Amino acid sequence: MSLILSIESSCDETAAAVVESGSKVLSSVVASQIAKHAVHGGVVPELAAREHLKAVIPVTQSALTEAGVTIKDIEAVAVTQGPGLIPALLVGMNFAKGLAQANDLPLIGVNHFLAHIYGAFLDSDLSVLQDKETYPLLALVVSGGHTSLLLISEDGSARQLGCTIDDAAGEALDKGAKLLNLGYPGGPIMQKTAENGDPEKFDFPRPLTGGAGRALAPENLYNFSFSGIKTALLYHVRKAEEANCINDQWLYDTAASFQRAVVDVLVRKTLTVLKNYPVKTVVVAGGVACNAELRRMMAERLPEKVALRIAPPKYCTDNAAMVGGIAWHYLKKGLTSPLDIDSFARLPQIVKVPFI
Ligand code: KG4
Ligand code: ZN
Repeated sequence: MSLILSIESSCDETAAAVVESGSKVLSSVVASQIAKHAVHGGVVPELAAREHLKAVIPVTQSALTEAGVTIKDIEAVAVTQGPGLIPALLVGMNFAKGLAQANDLPLIGVNHFLAHIYGAFLDSDLSVLQDKETYPLLALVVSGGHTSLLLISEDGSARQLGCTIDDAAGEALDKGAKLLNLGYPGGPIMQKTAENGDPEKFDFPRPLTGGAGRALAPENLYNFSFSGIKTALLYHVRKAEEANCINDQWLYDTAASFQRAVVDVLVRKTLTVLKNYPVKTVVVAGGVACNAELRRMMAERLPEKVALRIAPPKYCTDNAAMVGGIAWHYLKKGLTSPLDIDSFARLPQIVKVPFI
């Protein structure tokens, strides 16, 4: 039995988890700071760091208690190294280092982006990761910070086929919700507001999908762009204000049509990859993977022969279980980290994943 204690503090969630042998989640505790940041309409890095300082010890204690273990039962301490907000990351990193050193445990710095992908394999039979039939695997990572397509081969090598050239999908939903005065974070509120609306009522653009007779530059075949949808929303709101036609139904229809445009782009780009590569599995990961419309449209439009894996919502948004899960594979490969590792803000080029 190999138990890893993991810490996550890359953005506005302080999280800790205990995960057994890369799969079984014994506890996953998440303290959200959403209420603190909502008044500012977005995450304030220094405020996030200060909130992590307050929460990191109680959250870790709860994770151990809920798992029914003590630090003596733990084999390694894992922590999100990046990408993320540096002031926020440093709190989790320093805490994990102290914990590892004081208890003479190995430290494992984890890439948050890869951890999101691994979320789709938690609480499941890991033999699928060793099965040749799983690959090539295409991961669509969609969160507040990322919108990226990563192609993973059977030998663990990986290649980013494309990413957003401006806003991330979650960022677009968050900014869209702000424009509509719906509050923060926008993704879940947009989904809720869209439930009563007609997604075909208003026509928002689908940037970089080659529609409307516009040729798509080859370098953008797998890239995304969401700033145009956001600008279109701004003009849509202004026009409605001038025409004095804003009412509840207009809001529901606008949210539904805007959400549909974002989801449609994500699905279409995934299908474009499937046309050109013999993909056997699609993983959708990151906070936006919670979105019910995205989950439904992916399942509906993916060919039947392609396996679709999307983690339950609790493992899509930021959590420490995904960090502790993937860390077990680093540990098995002897990929522990020295105590002087640094946090990083940006996503490095991914050429390999550790879990195969
Ligand atoms: O993965 P995550 O928790 O943090 C980052 O690493 O960014 O993702 C947060 C993002 C936010 O943009 C949030 O609006 C979005 O995920 N999100 C959703 C939903 N739940 C969270 N977007 C659409 N529908 C949802 N239900
Ligand atoms: Zn994240």
